[in-house]
Amino acid sequence: MEPLQYSVNCVESDCWDWDSYYEKHPPPRNQVQSGKRVARRIERFIESKGLTANSIADVGCGPATTIFDLARRMPRCDFRGYDSSRTILRMNRQKAEKLGLDNLHFHFTKLPAMAVRRRFSIVMCIATLHYVEDPRRAIRRLYSMVEPGGCLVFNYPNRAHRAAVIREAEHDPVVTRRFELVIRGGNLLSYSGIERKLGRRPRSFWLAVGEPASRVNPCVVIAK
Ligand SMILES: C[S@@+](CC[C@H](N)C(=O)[O-])C[C@H]1O[C@@H](n2cnc3c(N)ncnc32)[C@H](O)[C@@H]1O
Repeated sequence: MEPLQYSVNCVESDCWDWDSYYEKHPPPRNQVQSGKRVARRIERFIESKGLTANSIADVGCGPATTIFDLARRMPRCDFRGYDSSRTILRMNRQKAEKLGLDNLHFHFTKLPAMAVRRRFSIVMCIATLHYVEDPRRAIRRLYSMVEPGGCLVFNYPNRAHRAAVIREAEHDPVVTRRFELVIRGGNLLSYSGIERKLGRRPRSFWLAVGEPASRVNPCVVIAK
C-alpha cells in the first residue's frame, strides 16, 4: 500500500488547529523534504512545457518550503504564498526578510472564498483541499486565479485516499481528528467531478513530471 506521502507526524491532539500547531512545531522533516520535491517537479513541469512562469501562487502554503526554494532559483518570478494561518504567514514573512527574498510575499486567505483578484501563471494547492469544506467551490476559485496560458496544479482527497486515512486512523487518534473531514467523506473529489466543475479534463501531474501516478494521492494539472 502506498504511504500517504504528505502526512505530517502529529503528536499533539490540537494539530488540526493550524495556528496552534505552527506555534508548537517546526515543520517536520518529511514535510520539508516533500516541499523540496514539489519544487523540483514544478521546475521540471515548467521546463518540459516551455511555460513562461512570471508569477506563481501557492495556496495553503504552510511553511512554504516549495516557494522558498523556487524563489531563490527564479528571482524574476513573483511568488505569493496564501494561507489561513496567520502564525505561519508571520513566520514566513520573517524568514523571507531574513533571506532577502523580495520576490516572495505572503497573504492571509481562506478557501473556498478566496478574495484574490489577480491572476498567476501557475496556481498550486498542495495538501490543503483535505481541510476545506467545499473543495468544488475552492477549485473553481483557484482556477479563476489562473491566467490564460497558465495552469492549476493541486492534489486532493479521493475515495482511495479516504480508505488509506481510515486505515491509518485505526492506530492513530490524531489522524482521526486531523482528517475528520476526509474520513466523513465530505470533501472527496474525482477526475470526473473536477471536469464537471471546471469544464476541462484534468491530467495527472505525476505523469506530466515523469513519475508514476498515485491512486491514494492524486495530483492533477489543468491548463487554461
Ligand atoms: C498540510 S499543510 C500543507 C502545507 C504545504 N502546502 C505543504 O505541502 O507542505 C495544510 C495548510 O493548509 C492551510 N489551510 C487549511 N485550511 C485552509 C483554508 N480553508 N484556506 C487556506 N489555507 C488553509 C493550513 O493552515 C496549512 O498551512
